[in-house]
Amino acid sequence: MEFADRVVIVTGASSGIGRVTARSFAARGAVVVAVARREEMLKRLVAECHEDSPRSHYIAGDLGRREFAEHVIQETVERHGRVDVLVNNAAISKHKQIYHVSADEAERVMDVNFRSCLWTTFAVIPPMLRAGGGFIVNVSSFAADVVPPRESVYAASKAAMSAFTEGLWNDLEGSGIHAALVIPGAIDTEIWDKEDEPVAFDGAKAPPEIVTQAIFEVIRKRRREITVPRRKPDLMLARFLRAYFPGLLRFGMRRMDPVPKEVIERARARAVRGLRLGDRGEG
Ligand SMILES: NC(=O)c1ccc[n+]([C@@H]2O[C@H](COP(=O)([O-])OP(=O)(O)OC[C@H]3O[C@@H](n4cnc5c(N)ncnc54)[C@H](OP(=O)(O)O)[C@@H]3O)[C@@H](O)[C@H]2O)c1
Repeated sequence: MEFADRVVIVTGASSGIGRVTARSFAARGAVVVAVARREEMLKRLVAECHEDSPRSHYIAGDLGRREFAEHVIQETVERHGRVDVLVNNAAISKHKQIYHVSADEAERVMDVNFRSCLWTTFAVIPPMLRAGGGFIVNVSSFAADVVPPRESVYAASKAAMSAFTEGLWNDLEGSGIHAALVIPGAIDTEIWDKEDEPVAFDGAKAPPEIVTQAIFEVIRKRRREITVPRRKPDLMLARFLRAYFPGLLRFGMRRMDPVPKEVIERARARAVRGLRLGDRGEG
């Protein structure tokens, strides 16, 4: 597929994987619509994109709000007449002991990471149908397949995205719209600096460029799903253990990141005081 003059929306484009992806599409002449909240970072990105793609621009706002997510698609169609590629990549992390997560926080993670993808996808399907087709690429996470410690909510948001994408892949067959999933393992981006609690994982992190390459590959080859880094032994082992020896997997995770007894005891004491999950009170 040639990307010159194709209209490509990249969410979460202000940093990390989204930024590299937006730059790569612009370098191929695509009209990039970069979406995120941090406007200054989007401005800098778009200035760089203009070297190869003068019609690229940004739309700043909070994708955790349905009206903004739908507005992104609507404004793009009004301005450019079409959307050829939608990359749903924006997300926030949530790395906390389950006792420390509030229902509000959990909802916010679902809104930003999963429901935003629902909202943009539902809004983009009609214009893609009118145009005869398009590509929807969703950036999920390996955490959806093998849930790391303290990440049940983040992983749930990504598992929902993964299942939704698989369903789209089935249901959109014959429409000209191809839905695909990219599943990154550990990637070296600023998301790791935004964690609420310390992360025990200290393994190697791959550069964001490999995720961008996978995004291009699922489009070019109409692939359903790619996990990156590819054929990485620890990811393959984790999937194998998850499928056949889940107890052993949990044992390994506990060794890496045990839940300290005092965390449970403090949570119990808060529960006895009638506090809700995530309400830390003084303890
Ligand atoms: N890095 C990894 O190890 C890894 C592993 C697996 C999956 N992933 C996935 O890869 C994707 C990209 O993450 P990354 O690693 O590149 O992290 P990142 O640098 O933190 O990028 C996240 C992007 O999402 C945007 N975003 C967050 N909340 C938003 C909101 N409410 N509205 C609009 N935009 C929002 C952020 O921009 P603003 O803050 O400016 O809004 C930022 O551009 C995410 O879906 C992540 O879950 C990453």
